Amino acid sequence: MKKIQISPSILSADFSQLGNEIKKLEDSGADMIHVDVMDGHFVPNLTIGPPVIKALKKQSSMIFDVHLMISPVHKYIQAFSDAGADIITIHPEATENLESSIIKIKSLNKKAGVSLNPETNVDVITDYLEKIDLVLIMSVNPGFGGQKFMPKVLDKIKKLKKIQEKENYDFDIEIDGGINFENSKQAIQAGANILVSGTTIFKSNNGDIKKNIELLRSK
Ligand code: DX5
Ligand code: ZN
Repeated sequence: MKKIQISPSILSADFSQLGNEIKKLEDSGADMIHVDVMDGHFVPNLTIGPPVIKALKKQSSMIFDVHLMISPVHKYIQAFSDAGADIITIHPEATENLESSIIKIKSLNKKAGVSLNPETNVDVITDYLEKIDLVLIMSVNPGFGGQKFMPKVLDKIKKLKKIQEKENYDFDIEIDGGINFENSKQAIQAGANILVSGTTIFKSNNGDIKKNIELLRSK
């Protein structure tokens, strides 16, 4: 079984202190940093782009897990790779040709992730599971932090896990949106091995990030 990894979303961090916030996450045992990139078009919210990632990457040796919620995404893959993204995750709906976007990410020696919205079926990516490094299951509709977890997506994780075992694939299964100390256990049980969390990590237990990371990791 894969090790459970925690990928805190900096969407809930203090944006005026991003460098320090990332340092804090690193010191608190985070396995990677989840960066939510939004364009105000694919999702109804705007966040940050490659220059901010580049600046943060200089200050940290952590893995940058970059979740692109932008459309059309293909022409920006190079810029996020150059900025220092280690994992580049895209949504199938945001590219004209999913396969060529995956090939592009892999050609830059980055890990390729594909994300499924709560309403998007696993079938959309079955043909690509052999090639990709990660599947990101959205447990909220993308766009905002602090939303309520949708338990129905756990079935998709179970389905993916079954395919993975049958075909002997090696992709990570990451879950993102509304993760708290209860549903984290359900997600792990279903087969997720990377948990993204913003609100729970930064706001629970009076912002005790180390404790919150430990609690999320525990089964
Ligand atoms: C939503 C983002 C998530 C989200 C996580 O579009 O992809 O990463 O902000 O934040 P919480 O844990 O607050 O749902
Ligand atoms: Zn995300």
